[in-house]
Amino acid sequence: MAGMSVLVVGGGGREHALCLGLARSESISDIHCAPGNAGTAEIATNHPFTEVADLIHLAFQLDVDFVVAGPEGPLCEGLADQLANMDIPCFGPVAALARLEGSKLHAKQIMAENNIPTAAFHVLSNGSDINAALDDFEGNPWVVKRDVLAGGKGVVVTESREEAKQFILESIASDGQVLLENFLPGEEASMLVVMDGSGFVCLPASQDHKREFEGDKGRNTGGMGAYAPAPVYTDDVRQKTIERIVKPMHKALASRRVPYRGVLYIGLMIDENNNPNVVEFNVRFGDPECQITIPLIASDLGELLNAAACDKLSTHDLMFHDKHALTVVLAAENYPGSVEKGRLIENIPEPSFESWVNHAGTKIDNSKIVSSGGRVLSCTAIGDSLEEAASKAYDLIAQIKLVGSHYRRDIGHKAL
Ligand code: AMP
Ligand code: GLY
Repeated sequence: MAGMSVLVVGGGGREHALCLGLARSESISDIHCAPGNAGTAEIATNHPFTEVADLIHLAFQLDVDFVVAGPEGPLCEGLADQLANMDIPCFGPVAALARLEGSKLHAKQIMAENNIPTAAFHVLSNGSDINAALDDFEGNPWVVKRDVLAGGKGVVVTESREEAKQFILESIASDGQVLLENFLPGEEASMLVVMDGSGFVCLPASQDHKREFEGDKGRNTGGMGAYAPAPVYTDDVRQKTIERIVKPMHKALASRRVPYRGVLYIGLMIDENNNPNVVEFNVRFGDPECQITIPLIASDLGELLNAAACDKLSTHDLMFHDKHALTVVLAAENYPGSVEKGRLIENIPEPSFESWVNHAGTKIDNSKIVSSGGRVLSCTAIGDSLEEAASKAYDLIAQIKLVGSHYRRDIGHKAL
């Protein structure tokens, strides 16, 4: 059988990891990426499109066998719906199901309907008694969540009542409503579940590092590094997560006329009694979780993603490497604040079988690789132990030259 052609949508570290996995897949002969980055350009054909209408047109013109959606934005705007109109399978859910990420309130409602463990919450709008709601969750930090896609900037966790109140008022003014959530203590883990109408398969659980500085200090970021498997995700936690969260969610999402086809990212908070609670759902691979999860999949990635796009997951066997993976993000100066783009990146090390550089915010300018975003690269390695993976990833990142760049030196510290 001739290999399949695929269009990967997106241009970050996650999409470079997807393209690298697809490039290793015997089932895949041709990879396109839109818009891609300097890394995907080495293994795929990049196309300079980000608008859904252009992406649909591109998929049709290229006559690809299927599309893999990286980010949530195009999915919320109906990428999968419109591809379905043209009989092009899409790895990534239709817009009505992508609302799980697009609206935190919608996610809460689905969780309530299906008895999924999550934090108690209030919905606040004009006229709500904000002080009474804040009183209700007094004694812990307050967790305020905007009900819109906010690119990782929609959540404030604060011990300052004043700051919480301010963010509530601003969010109501801009969005009409906002969620105030009970604070859940515990350890976080990211669970990626590939699912379709026929079944689901859980990928190794990972742990992200969201704050900008070592020791989980500083501002929230999209993620400064990650590793897998996460030891906090013990067999006990895994069983509880599958029974209490994954199975009921799959039942709810697979029983639709159009089932959920893609990956469900479950952000978990695991409490001191090993009970998992859902902090958030995303309708896509995590970034940088994708960079360390894909390399742990031993089976053909193209077949896996295509099976989920076509409701054939139940007939699919998935094998994993018995290894550890770790990635460290190299961020631009001042990230997660505004950054200067177009800075020269030098000394990017050559990949080996066990360590390589994922491109994220990079592009080629006059035959040189320059920065084009906040998270510029991530250095990834696999090893027989987490120590080994960490040491290789840090060896790589130390070689790279980018003026003003910074990275965390404690990725994986909780498990090491
Ligand atoms: P979210 O975008 O919903 O994942 O929230 C961003 C981050 O805020 C999470 O990764 C957690 O670290 C934190 N967070 C969100 N909700 C809660 C909660 N109810 N309790 C404690 N921390 C939370
Ligand atoms: N790394 C967190 C996310 O992708 O949402």
